[in-house]
Amino acid sequence: MAVQTPNLEPKGIQGLGKAIKRKEDARFIVGKGNYLDDINLPGMLYMALVHSPYAHAKILNIDTSEALKIPGVKAVITAKDLAAAGLSWIPTLAGDKQMVLADGKVLYQHQEVAAVYAETRQAAADGAAAVQVEYEPLPVVVDPYKATAPDAPVLREDIKDQMSGAHGPRRHPNHIWTWEVGSKDETEKALAQSEVRIKQHMVYPRSHPAPLEPCGCIGDMNRATGRLTVYMTTQAPHAIRTVLSLVTKIPENNIRVISPDIGGGFGNKVPVYPGYVCAIVGSIVLGAPVKWVETRTENLTTTGFARDFHMDIEIGATKDGRVTAMKVYTLADHGAFDAAADPSKYPAGLFSICTGSYDFQKAYAQVEAVYTNKAPGGVAYRCSFRVTEASYLIERSMDVLAHELKMDPAELRLKNFIQPHQFPYPSALGWTYDSGDYEKTLKVALERIGYHELRKEQAEKRARGELMGIGISTFTEIVGAGPSKDFDILGIKMFDGAEIRVHPTGSAIVRAGTRHQGQGHETTWAQIVSEELGLDVDKIIVEEGDTDTAPYGLGTYASRSTPTAGGAMALAARRIREKAKKIAAHLLEVGENDVEWVDKKFQVKGVPGKSVTMNEVAFAAYTNPPPGLEPGLETTYYYDPPNLTFPHGAYVCVVDIDKGTGEVKVRRFVAIDDCGTIINPMIVEGQVHGGLTEGFAMAFMQEIAFDEQGNHLASNFTDYLLPTALETPKWETGHTVTPSPHHPIGAKGVGESPTVGSPAAFVNAVVDALAHLGVRHIDMPITREKVWRVLRSAGIDA
Ligand code: CDP
Repeated sequence: MAVQTPNLEPKGIQGLGKAIKRKEDARFIVGKGNYLDDINLPGMLYMALVHSPYAHAKILNIDTSEALKIPGVKAVITAKDLAAAGLSWIPTLAGDKQMVLADGKVLYQHQEVAAVYAETRQAAADGAAAVQVEYEPLPVVVDPYKATAPDAPVLREDIKDQMSGAHGPRRHPNHIWTWEVGSKDETEKALAQSEVRIKQHMVYPRSHPAPLEPCGCIGDMNRATGRLTVYMTTQAPHAIRTVLSLVTKIPENNIRVISPDIGGGFGNKVPVYPGYVCAIVGSIVLGAPVKWVETRTENLTTTGFARDFHMDIEIGATKDGRVTAMKVYTLADHGAFDAAADPSKYPAGLFSICTGSYDFQKAYAQVEAVYTNKAPGGVAYRCSFRVTEASYLIERSMDVLAHELKMDPAELRLKNFIQPHQFPYPSALGWTYDSGDYEKTLKVALERIGYHELRKEQAEKRARGELMGIGISTFTEIVGAGPSKDFDILGIKMFDGAEIRVHPTGSAIVRAGTRHQGQGHETTWAQIVSEELGLDVDKIIVEEGDTDTAPYGLGTYASRSTPTAGGAMALAARRIREKAKKIAAHLLEVGENDVEWVDKKFQVKGVPGKSVTMNEVAFAAYTNPPPGLEPGLETTYYYDPPNLTFPHGAYVCVVDIDKGTGEVKVRRFVAIDDCGTIINPMIVEGQVHGGLTEGFAMAFMQEIAFDEQGNHLASNFTDYLLPTALETPKWETGHTVTPSPHHPIGAKGVGESPTVGSPAAFVNAVVDALAHLGVRHIDMPITREKVWRVLRSAGIDA
């Protein structure tokens, strides 16, 4: 019996620019997400880790006998057991190596020392508490400036005699690398000749992505088939599978990595952590699935931190405010192992975007990385690899320069912006900015907030002794890592893949090598396909995160998904459209050259009444393909972007400060973003709200701090504060659109723009409120106490 032709009229084509609701939210809102801890396998064991109370200590003895007596405890492993499997140390993404379990000594407080496997989560925790470890404390290095002192204790005894590492020469056992870019001599000459020079030291404190769902893993080795399935909270499942295969020597086809729904990643779920390795090893050794889900404290104390950049900048300018040169020195505190998650060629990430939106003719930046007794990391927390630090540095410094020149900070920026006709713009530090219109975006933001009236109000208030400040940040981002000529991680090029399968009835399944953690890809990828193929958006299902089915890709972080997988998706759809055109010509009984794609349909050129929809074409691809044409309608496209994308934004913040308490109230915050073509304005607005909230938290609330003994002072959410609806200001958002000239749909990434751009706006506003008291800079987090002390030392009484 012939198949009946269904109704093939597509209804809900919802392409670019449509603010449709997120498809994935239906399951999240009703509590039907499938997160790692929702997965329970038959016979599954649980794992708990033993952590070090010391920041630096020799391990004299580990006694597991009491732990093994606890009912339900199956096994305890230490570094010695891992050594037998060649897994006591693993390579890091940054070319260093790190201990899985403490091998002879511990290098930071809370470091993992042993893993306990048991039948229940409780028994595993009891077992971990019963492991007796004898330590001999060693001197501790917390301050990165003291790490390379001649008498500093040697932290990494394993490489103390290696005077060269993955990124060049090392000048001290605690020195990791020195990286530089730009011309030092020319920059110093230009600075010496500048009429005005400012210098500023500033710290971007250690922070933590603190995703609401902590990290976790289930290792499931099936001894019968020899197949290892790993469920893991990872933002990059394919890369993890490849690394697992290389490290364990299990053939890659026998490893399946599944990244289920993820409750926030923000860069924290990119690296490989000891807990993951121990869960997998446990499963291989014990022949049962092993689940490990970390606690909040484990997440905050042991997994990838962010920032910890100690920066010195010098800027030269003319008296009338044209910048001439910039020189930067940064000391990067990497903790005990260099486990930063950066593309291989860029040990300091994309920090060389620090010339920002301004036309600096000369620039030079040097970054030195050192080891300290802190947890490793340096992850790209909602940031395209050190771009947040760079953006904060330049945007804060432009305000310092404006104060020095007694110029309005908006006027200084307008005077120095790279102009639209200068794109593609080669920056002094080596990037080619694709496009931007900084002046337009700033003017929209200033207009929206009523800048000139606010300046008048500020002057009146200042005369009355009241404290009000206005802060601007006109940042440039650099996202979409990246073009394979420059970007790889452990040698794997950073392209991304997309696969589209159109079914006979005009529905489709779409897969990508990315893995969303709340960004809305299930909606936006479907919108790109709906736009390109004229299919009903509700009939397009998007899958990510399973290495058995998804095309290869390097995952989701650093706002790279839209610039990479988004491009792959559009080009995959266009490839399908090429084949579909042949089928359309067959159906319309004309030659292929007589068919054109108009209004999301194929029509005979010049004959609008003679057309077929993609749904009709899809049906024909399976029921009536043209003779000689391969049936079916599906393809895979790997997209290697020609350049990164350079989104930008103009943020303006207004604060009022209470003289008595030092409390800073963010009265208004206007954020105008430009991420090129917008796929879904509602999703972009959501991304901006979330990112601004995280920027606010860094500016005012959060720091991973340590005492002199290396004790971690922010190991839970009562010490490391997350903003709730009560603290979070009301955001006012908007956008300008400067499409990327090289991206298939003109889109640039946006996920992290607000986190990158906002901290400087907050800090600039606070400093602006206090500038007339002689205040030039305050380091984040700007707590009430810090402001109170600044006010008291300036002689201000309530
Ligand atoms: O890599 P990640 O998904 O974190 O960042 P992104 O590429 O900036 O995308 C974040 C979300 O915003 C995704 O759902 C994008 O498709 C969406 N987006 C958009 O709708 N329009 C843009 N121009 C950029 C991103």
